[in-house]
Amino acid sequence: MQDDIRMAGNSFGKIFRITTFGESHGEGVGVVIDGCPPRIPLTREDFVRDMARRRPGGTPVASPRQEADRVEIQSGVFEGITTGAPLMLFIRNQDADSRPYEVLRQVFRPGHGDYSYFKKYGHFDFRGGGRYSARETAARVAAGVVAGKILDPVGVKVMAYTVELGGVKAKDMDLSLIEKSSFFCPDMLASKKMEEIVSNVRKEGNSLGGIVEILVKGCPAGLGEPVFDKLDADLAKALMSVGTVKGVEIGAGFEAARLTGSENNDPIAPGGFRSNHAGGILGGISNGDDIVLRAALKPIPSINLEQDTIDRQGEPSKLKFTGRHDIASIPRIVPVFEAMVKIVLADHYLCAKATQSKGH
Ligand SMILES: Cc1cc2nc3c(=O)[nH]c(=O)nc-3n(C[C@H](O)[C@H](O)[C@H](O)COP(=O)(O)O)c2cc1C
Repeated sequence: MQDDIRMAGNSFGKIFRITTFGESHGEGVGVVIDGCPPRIPLTREDFVRDMARRRPGGTPVASPRQEADRVEIQSGVFEGITTGAPLMLFIRNQDADSRPYEVLRQVFRPGHGDYSYFKKYGHFDFRGGGRYSARETAARVAAGVVAGKILDPVGVKVMAYTVELGGVKAKDMDLSLIEKSSFFCPDMLASKKMEEIVSNVRKEGNSLGGIVEILVKGCPAGLGEPVFDKLDADLAKALMSVGTVKGVEIGAGFEAARLTGSENNDPIAPGGFRSNHAGGILGGISNGDDIVLRAALKPIPSINLEQDTIDRQGEPSKLKFTGRHDIASIPRIVPVFEAMVKIVLADHYLCAKATQSKGH
């Protein structure tokens, strides 16, 4: 596969189009946003909250790598307001330690991208996971802040939270408590149990997976473009494009397969839908109800336990990987999902406006 291979797939979106760049242990990561409307007030302070919610070093679950994750606005803003020109946002890497990754010159981490990148490109920056590192998601969070500024005046609110971690499920869903939990979990009792299980698994040198739900309130009916750019198709791609995601559900999701039509259909009344198994999307177009998505996350692949692998010559090898790692992609993935959903909705909102006929 290695001859004449180029790296494609760095851009996402049609009108509000993002292109991310950078590597975990290079100069930094960033995003170019093309198609951002003019006259949106934007300063570096706008990024502080969401970047802090994603950055490592913030919680006991996350990698201790210390990154300030300050967003530099390199272009597209004049006097604190977007001009409509491409926006370039840059986040410098400050605390990269490449030493533990030297071993990856020879052997592949089971569960990670090392093996498939080697097979495809033959040469790649494996330090800190390079291009396939979750560090790239910092750029997405920055783009999500800009997308949020397009959605705010429309009244669209996007909120993500943890509903399961290491087999511990949230039962009491009090969404006002999310920011109080180290895992953005709306159930404080479950959050405490998650802390315990994470602490035990960390001592064992192992890692955990979980499930995050994303709720969109205030999305107008009519977003989504038949047939390949259906809203649910684009949202699923947006979530699936984040590392560790192995499954995406919309509304009743896999549970819908076990319902009859009369159970699954959402009865329509003059005031709206009486239930929401559809998750706010019918025929690939938003129906005005809440959009509900869930993503299933595999455990973090880099673990501190010896595992069987092979080296670049295909010979059997053993690997016990040290270095600074998250125990789970939760909680850092939570703001990444919010950002990706905002990016999709902003793109579809601008698309709907662009294709609206004047007489409508
Ligand atoms: C927020 C977040 C944090 C992550 N942290 C780590 C980490 O510390 N160490 C690691 O090996 N993988 C980490 N990952 C997972 C890898 O990026 C991912 O598993 C890898 O690129 C392989 O891709 P795949 O899981 O989609 O197959 C993280 C992922 C996310 C989304």
